[in-house]
Amino acid sequence: MKNQLATVKETLLMGPGPSSVHPTVYQALAKPTIGHLDPAFIAIMDEIKEFLQQLMQTGNRLTVPISGTGSAGMETCFVNLVEPGDDVLVLINGVFGMRMADVAGRLGANVDTLEFEWGTPVVPARVKEKLNEKTYALIAVVHAETSTGVCNPIDEVAELVKETSSLFLVDTVTSLGGIPVTVDAWQADAVYSGTQKCLSCPPGLAPISFSDKAVEKTMNRRNKVPNWYLDLTMIVNYWEGNTRAYHHTAPINMLYGIYESLYCVLSEGLDNVYSRHQKAHLALVEALESLGFEMLVAPEFRLPMLNSVKIPEGIDEAKIRMQLLQEHQIEIGAGLGPLAGKIWRIGVMGHTARMENIEQFTNALKSCL
Ligand SMILES: Cc1ncc(COP(=O)(O)O)c(C=O)c1O
Repeated sequence: MKNQLATVKETLLMGPGPSSVHPTVYQALAKPTIGHLDPAFIAIMDEIKEFLQQLMQTGNRLTVPISGTGSAGMETCFVNLVEPGDDVLVLINGVFGMRMADVAGRLGANVDTLEFEWGTPVVPARVKEKLNEKTYALIAVVHAETSTGVCNPIDEVAELVKETSSLFLVDTVTSLGGIPVTVDAWQADAVYSGTQKCLSCPPGLAPISFSDKAVEKTMNRRNKVPNWYLDLTMIVNYWEGNTRAYHHTAPINMLYGIYESLYCVLSEGLDNVYSRHQKAHLALVEALESLGFEMLVAPEFRLPMLNSVKIPEGIDEAKIRMQLLQEHQIEIGAGLGPLAGKIWRIGVMGHTARMENIEQFTNALKSCL
C-alpha cells in the first residue's frame, strides 16, 4: 500500500499563511500525547496562558487558545459577545472584515458596516462620524488585513471606541507575533488570532483574550451562547481554577506546538521578532521594486508580514505561482475578491521572515520571469 505522506516535500511558505513551521515546533508536536487532565499537562496549559498574556500585552485572565483555526477564534468572540438584536458595527477593508459582518449577521445582530477601498486603511474620521450617529453594542475591526496587506490604525480607532460604551473586538490573526498587539493599551475587549501566521506553528488553534467587561457580558447574557463548542462560560472551567472540568478533549499535541512557538517568540524577545519581520519586509520590497514591481499599499500602511504586489501587464500570474511551487518549492498567494488576478500576496511571517528566504525567493522569481 502506498503512503501518500511520503510525497510531501518541505515548501518555503511565503503565502498569506500557513507560514514555515519552526523546527523546534515540529519536535514539540511529536512529543508523547498525555492525558488532557494530567497535572503535567495542566502546568503546560497554565504557562501557555501566561505566554499569551505577555505576547498580547494584557493582564486579561481569560486569555486562552481555542481549539480550531482563526475563524473559530472569530466565531468564539461573536457567539459569546453578541445577542440577537444587538447593534454591531464592522469596519471593512477586505475579506476578513466581510467575514466578521457575516458571522455577526448570522447571530441575529443588526449589523452596520463602514467600508473602505481594498488596499487602503480604515479612516478614523469616518469611524468618528459613525459613532456620533449611533451607539453600538460592539465595534469590530481587523488589525492586519491579510487579503490586502494593509495595517489598520487600531491605536486611533481604539481612542474613538474608548469614548463609547461599546465592546471593542480586534482580529489579530495575522498581526500577532509580527507587529505589536497591545490589548490593554487599546482597551480591546476581545481579540482573536491564529497559530499559522507569525507564530510559526501549523494551523489549529485560535488564541483569544477577553477583558473583564467582555467576560461580564458573556456571563450575564440574556440567552445561552448559541454554540455549545465555543461557549466560554463552559470552556473556562477547563482552563481556570483548581478543579479542571472536562469540556472537550483538548488537542494535546497542538497545545505543545503553541507552547513551543510562544516560547521561541518570547525567548527571541518581542522587539527582536518585530524588527526581524520589518527587515525581511524591507528587503523584499526593495528586491521586488528593483525587478520593476509596484506595491499595492502605500508605504505608511504596509504590513511587514503580508506584501501585496501588483502584477504587471503580460505576466501570467497563476503560471508563475505554479512554477515557483513546482520548480522551486516556494508558495506565494494569489489575490482575493476584487484583487484576484491583480496581485500576489507574499508572506514573510514568523519563521519565514528571514533574509535567506528573501534571497531564495528573489532568485527563484527572477528565474521564473
Ligand atoms: C485576518 C484574518 N482573520 C481571520 C482569518 C481566518 O483564519 P483561519 O483561516 O485560520 O480560520 C484569517 C486567515 O487567513 C485572517 O488572515
